[in-house]
Amino acid sequence: MAAYNYVDHKYDVVVVGAGGAGLRATLGMAEQGLRTACITKVFPTRSHTVAAQGGIAASLQNMGPDHWHWHLYDTVKGSDWLGDTDAMEYLAREAPAAVYELEHYGVPFSRTEEGKIYQRPFGGHMQNFGDGPPVQRTCAAADRTGHAILHTLYGQSLKHHAQFFIEYFAVDLIMEEDGTCTGVVAWNLDDGTIHRFSAKMVVLATGGYGRSYFSATSAHTCTGDGGGMVARAGLPLQDMEFVQFHPTGIYGAGCLITEGARGEGGYLVNSEGERFMERYAPSAKDLASRDVVSRCMTMEIREGRGVGKNKDHIFLHLDHLDPAVLHERLPGISESARIFAGVDLTKEPIPVLPTVHYNMGGVPTNYWGEALDPTGSDPDRVTPGLMAVGEAGCASVHGANRLGSNSLIDLVVFGRAAAIRAGEIVDPKSAVPALNKAACDKIMDRFDRLRHASGSTPTAVIRERMQRAMQEDAAVFRTQESLESGCRRISQIWGELKDVKVFDRSMIWNSDLVETLELENLMANAITTVYSAEARKESRGAHAREDFSARDDVNWRKHTLAHLSPDGKVTLTYRPVHTEPQIKPEDGGIDPAKIAPKARVY
Ligand code: FUM
Repeated sequence: MAAYNYVDHKYDVVVVGAGGAGLRATLGMAEQGLRTACITKVFPTRSHTVAAQGGIAASLQNMGPDHWHWHLYDTVKGSDWLGDTDAMEYLAREAPAAVYELEHYGVPFSRTEEGKIYQRPFGGHMQNFGDGPPVQRTCAAADRTGHAILHTLYGQSLKHHAQFFIEYFAVDLIMEEDGTCTGVVAWNLDDGTIHRFSAKMVVLATGGYGRSYFSATSAHTCTGDGGGMVARAGLPLQDMEFVQFHPTGIYGAGCLITEGARGEGGYLVNSEGERFMERYAPSAKDLASRDVVSRCMTMEIREGRGVGKNKDHIFLHLDHLDPAVLHERLPGISESARIFAGVDLTKEPIPVLPTVHYNMGGVPTNYWGEALDPTGSDPDRVTPGLMAVGEAGCASVHGANRLGSNSLIDLVVFGRAAAIRAGEIVDPKSAVPALNKAACDKIMDRFDRLRHASGSTPTAVIRERMQRAMQEDAAVFRTQESLESGCRRISQIWGELKDVKVFDRSMIWNSDLVETLELENLMANAITTVYSAEARKESRGAHAREDFSARDDVNWRKHTLAHLSPDGKVTLTYRPVHTEPQIKPEDGGIDPAKIAPKARVY
């Protein structure tokens, strides 16, 4: 192995990732006096949370009636009864306090005439346990809510003296023989040094893996680095088959047009000018849950009612809305539509297409963010020293499908929960675990192998093959045939990783090597996704099988756990869904009968 320049660190907590969840966890840890480092491969305010547009869900009741029980009900129904009830209950109940906390930290929310936080309707959020009209629950800072939150949380983290390691790429977790995580190894992209962080707790907040697909709203940095590290550590990934397609990615470019556009009154039409969502979802219409709207759009296109020269997309109309409203509430997408679709949305519809947007699956955790390594006798066994929050984790609060605006609230509620839990179990006075040099050497062997990889296929070629296979075979609609093809193709591409060619051997800003490390991470996520999807013989949430079109609660109301071996074999086991709320009705909790499984219609 080549000689590397090592720098060693000791911290109480190391957070990997500086998006909304990573920063909220970092801030919470530092606030409690834990020595906290945050490692991030991009500058914190460039993390993908910056792209979150429409808002953050919380039952504040600023714009009409709402209740956290309604939010919980909508989340359970949105998850298609796969989410863990204790986690969803925690989310809905804690959401208002988490949003007010953001307000007090300084997030510049849009305001009502009375000066309260402005809230807009969003898909799948309804009044009165789904019986009423859409509820205005999504708190917004125009259509730049993620941007506002990210900047505020970064400022707060600095105020509490968290230490940032910016433009450091986390390579792998340091794991002990007994399964405890004791740190992480990271590469400083700027000067080429290798940093070995020993810590009492490592928190993965690395985001999703949208870039395993060809067309995604996700940033190019969304490469599932946490999932890759966890899989290489021999730990499972949960519910990877559930990949969310957002109904309104800009056709061709993939950029997000927020669901807030439909919340403000926008609607979808087919080539006949028909508002087809009225036919599929008579109550919620264009504000049905995302998985439902994406499927309806796909069916319209398949049945020949797509728009454009190739009849392969749908139009989103906002041109009937008052330009002043568009200017005030949706300035960001007005700009995106102009730049990426050449459209003036005050005059013309935006061409849109369902586009990969979010991964419901990830590192299994409890609702305190502690990573799980389930066994048959203990499905909730915790991996000591490891947590995961945000899109990297799977609490499981979104189950088979996430509701729009439940992601930003997930980031802050569970980032905060992880900090609260760390405050209980991490003793600032105890010694930091000794550096496991043997484990670090193994990590660097892999790094070195990739740095010097001299096969015949450039990283970008393998990456595109993976992205096309995922796009074609693990799509909005799936069949046994498409999923078997996906498994075959991704396994073959796994084999091709051995033949990768890295052209740049340097240690300073070697983007070729960064992309190769990212590709291995993407592949770990992609292969567990297709194999988990092939095995699940039902339709639930975002996993829509044409050959098993019904939800099957008897056989499949359970979480998938995917283990990946170093040679690319995926082994699947399952763990039970938590179906019980924690708070009793007499203490203000929801009546469990309200959230019992039933048909999911909007
Ligand atoms: O449509 C949107 O603004 C996206 C929000 C979300 O994914 O939660």
